[in-house]
Amino acid sequence: MEKNLEQINTAALKELDAADKTKKVKELSIKYLGRKGELTLFLRNISQLPPEERPKAGQRANQIKKELEVRFDNKIKQLKRGALAVKDEIDVSLPGRTQEPGTLHPITRITREICDIFISMGFDIVEGPEVETDYYNFEALNFQKDHPARDMQDTFYVSDNIVLRTHTSPTQPRVMEKQDPPVRIIAPGKVYRCDSDLTHTPMFHQVEGLLVDKNVSFGDLKGTLTTFIHRMFGSKTMLRFRPSYFPFTEPSAEVDISCVMCHGKGCRICSKTGWLEILGSGMVHPAVLENVNYDTSRYTGFAFGMGVDRIAMLKYGIDDIRKYFENDFRFLSQF
Ligand code: PHE
Repeated sequence: MEKNLEQINTAALKELDAADKTKKVKELSIKYLGRKGELTLFLRNISQLPPEERPKAGQRANQIKKELEVRFDNKIKQLKRGALAVKDEIDVSLPGRTQEPGTLHPITRITREICDIFISMGFDIVEGPEVETDYYNFEALNFQKDHPARDMQDTFYVSDNIVLRTHTSPTQPRVMEKQDPPVRIIAPGKVYRCDSDLTHTPMFHQVEGLLVDKNVSFGDLKGTLTTFIHRMFGSKTMLRFRPSYFPFTEPSAEVDISCVMCHGKGCRICSKTGWLEILGSGMVHPAVLENVNYDTSRYTGFAFGMGVDRIAMLKYGIDDIRKYFENDFRFLSQF
């Protein structure tokens, strides 16, 4: 009887080895392990063995049963894998792999949207270097050497006199040095500050605006920014000019807009104030105009600077600025 058990095992393994279709393996499984299978019958008839042989034979039969189950399973998996591989090679009816078309990064989209609005108002686009001299980033903009406002911007220093620009404002003196008034420019680009949390990344994006001409007033600044905000966020959006300070503008104002989420009622996004700070602005400080040899008795101007990342967060309802820079395709393909 025990010999019989080993014979069943050997025969099963041999047949399994020869099986080349999953259907065949399933048949074998029934032949040996099914309700009327050879091994099942052996176990069922175990009581016919002499009592002293029963425990050993029972153990061995169960062991073989388990092993065969695993082998049958593995063989089926193996055959399925093989079938797939062959299909891959020859099945010309399978659809091709699609090439996902690229989409513009949300920051690029918003930057272009902002620039387009100002282009339509007659502004030109210029760009400045991201690695900037202390002179253009600070000095020419009326930050004295140990001006406390330098601490407002956690600067990355490359060397004593070279910095990663902390804002796009250095494009102001760069343009004015080369060009006489009237000047009407927009300067988008990357800026750097040593700062990192949910709403700050060490690199972010700004758009700078500068207009210098005869008879430019604070009213022109307000009109220009109001037009811009209405085009960007809708004509119902309200603006609020709050007195502020920048070394390179006087007077200076920070501009708030009514919250784009709650429309002024107060919510999490606007910290219950109903307002969102959106840009810095002011009348160009005479000292800045003098630094580029403009005649301050003839010319005045206004300037403004805004954070693109923040505007994009508000427009798209994104709550974590770091999402822009993780390059997760699932995030980026939504735009
Ligand atoms: N450069 C300022 C900032 O980064 C913004 C600004 C630009 C303010 C132009 C006034 C005029 O905070």
